[in-house]
Amino acid sequence: MLDKDIERVIYTPEQIQDRVKEIARRINEDFTGEEVVVIAVLRGAVIFFSDIFRKLTLDCEADFISVGSYGKGATSGKLELKKDITADIKGKNVIIVEDILDTGKTLKFICDLLSQREPKALRVCVLLDKKCEKQSEVKADYVGFEVDDTFVVGYGLDYADRYRNLPYIGELKTDIWRK
Ligand code: IMP
Ligand code: MG
Repeated sequence: MLDKDIERVIYTPEQIQDRVKEIARRINEDFTGEEVVVIAVLRGAVIFFSDIFRKLTLDCEADFISVGSYGKGATSGKLELKKDITADIKGKNVIIVEDILDTGKTLKFICDLLSQREPKALRVCVLLDKKCEKQSEVKADYVGFEVDDTFVVGYGLDYADRYRNLPYIGELKTDIWRK
């Protein structure tokens, strides 16, 4: 059982779905009558993305990008593009969907890369915004929830590629990620 590694549930599936509904409503409002390319950052954002995407009533394309660090640890080291999008985004509205904004390095890398391709608009949607020191100026336009600076998993978020399938967002016990 994965539940035994969880210190506490931070957001329940019901709370998550309420936020998803609200964010989708705002995106539908902000881009009424427009086309949008919605880009999920693999792999953590896939579950959040698929919930949001199905609630969009706009003319949408789905695409995927993957970025990883070639140093050690989750957020250290230099970032590299592991999988690029296939869509041509020049002149199009783009929304990047990411699981969590931590230091901001990942989203900065992706925003810098995609803005070079001259989209009409580039927006950032994150499930979680972690209350910690940001190392970049990237701000999310749509935020699901704020979380404290602890390690969270579930609803797509992983620790060493596990726990993504938990239906809720939970705090991982410190003895698991500090060991
Ligand atoms: P950033 O580049 O520091 O903003 O880190 C973003 C990436 O770090 C996310 O895409 C996550 O994969 C990972 N990450 C940061 N904090 C957590 C967490 O609490 N749980 C799971 N993944 C996290
Ligand atoms: Mg990730």
